[in-house]
Amino acid sequence: MTATTLTDSTGRPVRRVLVTGAAGFIGSHLCERLLAMGVAVTGLDCFTRYYDEERKRANVATAAAHEGFTLVERSLLAVAPDDLLAGVDAVFHLAAQPGVRASWGEGFQDYVTNNIVATQHLLENLSGRDIPVIYSSSSSVYGDAPVMPTPEDAPTTPVSPYGATKLTAENLCRMYSRDGRVHTVSLRYFTVYGPRQRPDMAFTRFIEAAGRGEPITLYGDGHQSRDFTFVTDAVDANIRALQFGASGAVFNIGGGEHASVNEIIEILDDLMGQRIAVDRRPTAAGDARHTSADVSRAREEIGFAPSTGLRAGLEQQVEAAAAASLPGGARVTRH
Ligand code: UGA
Repeated sequence: MTATTLTDSTGRPVRRVLVTGAAGFIGSHLCERLLAMGVAVTGLDCFTRYYDEERKRANVATAAAHEGFTLVERSLLAVAPDDLLAGVDAVFHLAAQPGVRASWGEGFQDYVTNNIVATQHLLENLSGRDIPVIYSSSSSVYGDAPVMPTPEDAPTTPVSPYGATKLTAENLCRMYSRDGRVHTVSLRYFTVYGPRQRPDMAFTRFIEAAGRGEPITLYGDGHQSRDFTFVTDAVDANIRALQFGASGAVFNIGGGEHASVNEIIEILDDLMGQRIAVDRRPTAAGDARHTSADVSRAREEIGFAPSTGLRAGLEQQVEAAAAASLPGGARVTRH
């Protein structure tokens, strides 16, 4: 291992971190970045069955091949905290029950357990240990925000059960930081995409369906829009947030490029060299109509500046699908 270049907000070197959700989409990219910086990583993941375990194994394969990486295949709620946190200088908490549209119905129990109870358990066990935690929150805490672009002090009124659990976990972070028990920073990501994007999310579903020559499923009229964030920019925000000294802070993390789902389909038509067939379905329950991030606070306080534009990022995601032999990638055309 090379000497670490990473420090926390007090200037202390960060030699080992815990990444929860290490085999997930964003978590696996974060592990690789930290390892490249010379930081040892304990990666926790319990491989929930929300999506195919093979995909998660593939996500974490590059990190797992690194000498500085240790994979702990356990739930946060099942592992002994003293073992897990021994020698750890900081925690990146990404483990969660994801998915806006799947959070209705009986499955909500998993959202409560994996998003709220597990986060409270982590915070309780971090109390008094002087280990900062960067929490991965979500733009879904805003719901249908009344102000666009949306600043962090806008009302938080989620429109999905998922968003409600992410907001509760974020509030727990603020509570534990309030009286100095745990140093926390929360990052509200706006629809992250790129290589390894979860298979339930729009871009992966579109690329894979188009690759199989099947129609994509479009919920609603396609005029709903998102601030899309490339995954390496979300990773960069985590590293920067670790150096931020005001505990309890919340930052919007958005990619700076806003597009409707219809516009995304047009870009994919072009990148994949085909006219993608569309199967229209009703608007999905829990979907925010528009999201748009005001990232002024992140820019000013932690120097966050997204570096990958939407077309370039989508191209990388399509190419990664090809490299992973997933349907869709083989049809990439360069323009
Ligand atoms: C995403 C993530 O899934 C959440 O985990 C995250 O917390 C959230 O972003 C966030 O920003 O906070 P979402 O914006 O719904 O949620 O992202 P996608 O699943 O990529 O969906 C984007 C849009 O495409 C939505 O309007 C959705 O209804 C639409 N969509 C999705 C389709 O039309 N068809 C599909 O097959 C999938």
